[in-house]
Amino acid sequence: MLRFRRATALLAAALAAAGLGAAPLRAQEQPAPRVPAPVMSYHGAEWLERPGRMEEEQPLEVIAAMDLKPGMIVVDLGCGTGYYARKMAPKVLPGGTVYGEDIQPEMLDLMQQLSAKEKIENIVPILGDETDPKLPKGKVDWIIMADVYHEFQHPEPMLAKMLESLSPTGKVCLLEYRAEKFRQASHIKPEHRMTVKQVLAEWNAAGFELVDLQEFLPVQHMFIFQRRPERAN
Ligand SMILES: C[S@@+](CC[C@H](N)C(=O)[O-])C[C@H]1O[C@@H](n2cnc3c(N)ncnc32)[C@H](O)[C@@H]1O
Repeated sequence: MLRFRRATALLAAALAAAGLGAAPLRAQEQPAPRVPAPVMSYHGAEWLERPGRMEEEQPLEVIAAMDLKPGMIVVDLGCGTGYYARKMAPKVLPGGTVYGEDIQPEMLDLMQQLSAKEKIENIVPILGDETDPKLPKGKVDWIIMADVYHEFQHPEPMLAKMLESLSPTGKVCLLEYRAEKFRQASHIKPEHRMTVKQVLAEWNAAGFELVDLQEFLPVQHMFIFQRRPERAN
């Protein structure tokens, strides 16, 4: 079970008070239109394995909050070098699989090289495209997206395909650098950061429901989403 730090009801009340509930935002409350960031090239892949990232992003804390279990099917969507996939892979053994998905084959090659070096055998690469991550349908227990969503050039079809891939209890862990003034990721370019309001406007409209929002990370929001009940398979 997820160790949610706040009860869903409390979260809903807090979000509603801030005007950020599941109900569609009124036109005058919509955040300003967002321009997607350019896709980070594999030429810069070394940055994804930088020293200091463990401290800045605390991936082990994030993965602990997901409470992965043996046998689960997990996706690292926009996996890059598999920084998160490689840390999640042992947690779903025995029997579980991590799909590392990306649109750049070069990133998948790097992930496979690093996995082989670390003797990890349960990561399966998937080459997706900008509108379809090509995931198995209805089977995925968790999708994690770390510093990826703001790069989607076509967020709507991507979110629709993600929704189709989730099992009835499947969830998404979304990590995005904070754009708000409070504990802002000021070392990250503005187009690579998002506000809570921007994320909720887009994800609510796509049929997701926020089940948790955690702010324990130094510079990132951590959202947990599931399929909105009326959209259940
Ligand atoms: C900043 S990197 C983050 C990589 C990895 N998630 C991490 O935290 O180390 C962004 C990655 O998202 C991938 N990406 C961008 N748009 C994508 C899309 N529509 N579908 C899948 N991957 C995408 C890029 O190719 C790149 O590898």
